[in-house]
Amino acid sequence: MKALILSGGKGTRLRPLTYTGAKQLVPVANKPILWYGIEGIVAAGITDIGIVISPETGEEVKAKTGDGSRFGAKITYILQSEPAGLAHAVKVARPFLGDSPFIMYLGDNLIENSLDPFLEIFQKQKLDGLILLRPVVNPSAFGVAKVDENGRVLQLVEKPKVPPSNLALVGIYFFAPTIHEAIDQIQPSPRGELEITDAIQQLINQKKQVEACNLEGWWLDTGKKDDLLSANQIILDSRIVASSELKVESTSQIIGRVQIGEGTEIINSTVRGPVVIGENSRIENCFVGPYSSIGDRVTMIDADIEHSVILQGAKIIGIHQRIVDSVIGQRAQLINAPARPKALRFMIGDDSQIEL
Ligand code: DAU
Repeated sequence: MKALILSGGKGTRLRPLTYTGAKQLVPVANKPILWYGIEGIVAAGITDIGIVISPETGEEVKAKTGDGSRFGAKITYILQSEPAGLAHAVKVARPFLGDSPFIMYLGDNLIENSLDPFLEIFQKQKLDGLILLRPVVNPSAFGVAKVDENGRVLQLVEKPKVPPSNLALVGIYFFAPTIHEAIDQIQPSPRGELEITDAIQQLINQKKQVEACNLEGWWLDTGKKDDLLSANQIILDSRIVASSELKVESTSQIIGRVQIGEGTEIINSTVRGPVVIGENSRIENCFVGPYSSIGDRVTMIDADIEHSVILQGAKIIGIHQRIVDSVIGQRAQLINAPARPKALRFMIGDDSQIEL
């Protein structure tokens, strides 16, 4: 069994963060989203992993993630020259996949559950395809499945205007090598992509064994700002344990589950967990409230934040109104200029959102 993680694509929905980086590397609780997928796959006993990358962000994904040794895996990078669809990515990965069954994992998806029970069903029942489904309130944003009363998959459609059900396809699929023939038989969709949804429909049309399981635990498709903040909250809630031996000076207070990286200084501040703070950051005269993740080399002076994600190298200085529900990009600066208290001065990148 191999695994194929899709980490190419354009990442338009998390703009502006993804103008300068891969969306799969956007951190959740200070760890790239992609790495949670790798860890889940390795925990299921699969260590031969291919990662599909794009020309624009592939080098960054490679440099950050490495050869897999840090995860106890062997990673092969596969370049997809254009984001021509999920099934196209499988086609490009064919030399890596050979005739092995594989799990296909979308690099921007995060799930709570272990993959073990699904892998067991897929292998025991010798299925051609196993998909995971989850009821959602906005099915038109996903691939959608219609199932009969016994849970058999009847029909799959990608982002339908009129959804046949509220069951979305989770971005984790299990395939036998028969998927390759199915992919060879499909045509690009109206949006110009070779859709994996169409390839699975092709398997169903050919009466191959395709089953669906309901995903019970949480699932996050970290495509948008609010999804990213929810993912951050859930991971901080469920997986963060306090660092042992936190040393901060006496005018600071650390309350609850807080992790602080090497070289970070907390001066005259209160940090109320769950919170993670990366390495070599400086937090001075601040309140850092629950569900905040602060990256490496961040400077925060005279500021208040809560339920926010601050990426590496950002500076927040002299902001006395509490910052909430916010994502601040790498090296972004949010600085109060006391000389002109009534004036607001901005240098804001394309697609940014500011609420005053
Ligand atoms: O998240 C679940 C949904 O994922 C499913 O419900 C949909 O059926 C499925 O098509 C997919 O929809 P998205 O619109 O979320 O797909 P997206 O374009 O965001 O791509 C998902 C991942 O695959 C992302 O990490 C980028 C990568 N990708 C995407 C394309 C189109 C590639 O590596 N190559 C590609 O050509």
